[in-house]
Amino acid sequence: MPPPVSQPATRPKVYVARRIPEEALQILEAHCDCRVFAHEDTPVPRETLLQELGGADGAFVLLTERIDDELLAAAPRLKIVANMAVGYDNIDVEACTRRGVLVTNTPGVLTETTADLTWALLMATARRLVEAQKVIERGQWRTWSPMFLTGQDVYGRTLGIIGAGRIGGAVARRARGFAMTILYHNRRRRPDLEAETGARYVGFHELLEQSDFVVTLVPLTAETHHLINEDALRRMKPNAILINAARGPVVDEKALYKALTEGWIWAAGLDVWEKEPIGPDHPLLGLPNVVALPHIGSASIATRTRMAVVAAENLVAGVTGRRPPNLVNPEAWERRRGAEGGGGQVG
Ligand code: NAP
Ligand code: GLV
Repeated sequence: MPPPVSQPATRPKVYVARRIPEEALQILEAHCDCRVFAHEDTPVPRETLLQELGGADGAFVLLTERIDDELLAAAPRLKIVANMAVGYDNIDVEACTRRGVLVTNTPGVLTETTADLTWALLMATARRLVEAQKVIERGQWRTWSPMFLTGQDVYGRTLGIIGAGRIGGAVARRARGFAMTILYHNRRRRPDLEAETGARYVGFHELLEQSDFVVTLVPLTAETHHLINEDALRRMKPNAILINAARGPVVDEKALYKALTEGWIWAAGLDVWEKEPIGPDHPLLGLPNVVALPHIGSASIATRTRMAVVAAENLVAGVTGRRPPNLVNPEAWERRRGAEGGGGQVG
């Protein structure tokens, strides 16, 4: 175990931005004085967060909380922001690093669960499951008919994964059971994944042009914002299906609407949205060839509990002067070590 940077004289103060599973809260309460935004299952209002972080050594946050420089400026004691998610595009990591605030996420524990959901969405979209249920609910099922609710085959087709990391790799492994040709595109090749699954590394355009299913699992960054734009959608096959399980802004929704209504692609399955939450009036929901989910990629009971526990363990490490296991910005740790003995933010 690495040596602690500094030992606080009193119990650290921690703010938890939502009600979280009991196992995770117990870990926090064993080491810290906790305040929890537990009123409703809604995001903590920005003003409340600004106020609460003013006296906090650590923050347990979700992807619904935007952690930016304004917030950090109002939180002079803050040592760590522990995100209960693997994606951390809600956090200005650069600002945290500059201020010596550690940032952590929850990689790995949600990989298989999110890969399962990505596959569920792919299958539901290909075989029109949601439309099919609506037909029954509306009393429109009259008879068996040759081309009634026909969709796209999955078995033996070509799957293109943009962002074949932990989750994308797990999606690829499942594709072997469907005898699929697997293409992937990252910035770097993954010989391990190629050896394990037979996946072939291709350029971005080739992936779009060859794939029957295009699955996005990249983190949201400046580089991946609107990666799937009009140009990308026009390159896809007319029978292609887009599955976005990454972050909403990876796909330009206006361009996607055009692509789906003008037949450039066949359908889309979306777990994530440019601006969450969406309501029933969202234009894409009006389309029969869209399967829409409310950002539930990692939402199994076991996995969400595990994510909360991992975030709590990261947080406790950070506020007690130990290097958190899932540190996103090691530079901030070095800054803290350099300024050993300082209370909260450094620099
Ligand atoms: P990961 O292991 O870091 O994988 C991300 C992959 O994306 C890496 O292989 C990376 O490879 C690639 N990548 C990054 N930037 C790229 C770019 N500009 N162009 C092409 N490829 C790029 O992360 P993960 O654990 O699989 O999670 C991936 C993302 O899924 C998360 O960041 C999160 O946003 C999302 N997610 C969503 C849900 C949900 O509920 N729907 C649940 C969990 C995660 P290179 O570095 O070689 O480019
Ligand atoms: C969920 O979307 C995550 O990034 O963990």
